Amino acid sequence: MLRVAVLVSGGGTNLQAIIDAQTSGVIKDAKVQLVVSNVLSAYALERAKNANIKTAVVRKKDFENVALWENALSDLLIENKIDLIVLAGFMTILSADFVNKFPEKIINVHPALIPSFCGEGFYGLKVHEAALEKGVKITGATVHYVNEIADGGKIIMQKAVEVKDTDTPEILQKRVMQQAEWDILPRAIQLIAEQTSDKTES
Ligand code: GAR
Repeated sequence: MLRVAVLVSGGGTNLQAIIDAQTSGVIKDAKVQLVVSNVLSAYALERAKNANIKTAVVRKKDFENVALWENALSDLLIENKIDLIVLAGFMTILSADFVNKFPEKIINVHPALIPSFCGEGFYGLKVHEAALEKGVKITGATVHYVNEIADGGKIIMQKAVEVKDTDTPEILQKRVMQQAEWDILPRAIQLIAEQTSDKTES
């Protein structure tokens, strides 16, 4: 069973999709052992508690510098024997030092079809504002591995979503979450779990 940690900063609807996928059986070979937030008031923490998942809050502002914050975060993940780190609305970029400690062990969900509308500065609603401003007719979501380049790691899964003429950033965000993110993030976790167990068996 793949031991998963989910890193969050906000509402946690993607975390909820992962929890629900464990219940429904879409995720069979992985289990969320830990939810870590960098924001004390993140509603995602309530979702984790409701599902009896261990939680932790690790805030940058409680440390003297970013390196010490990242050390605390990586210590926590190692202590909990985490095999896969899932960034699900984790609104901060991790340094190359951190990412290189966990090669091919960190994945992220991004609310656009990478390489469109991604990289530094493209997060949350800003992604959908940019898509509407450009006038694209199709957008979507991407699950990808995290490397030292923001939104630059290998793509694992993508799903397209239609953009409508009447969309606001908020309406588009909701459609991308419902039709794409909440579907592909759990499926990507199960896929990685299956691939990992194949590797350990052979
Ligand atoms: C999601 O749309 C996620 O794709 C996005 O933030 C939202 C978090 O929602 N992440 C990024 O923009 C990262 N670059 P949630 O807290 O309800 O899962």
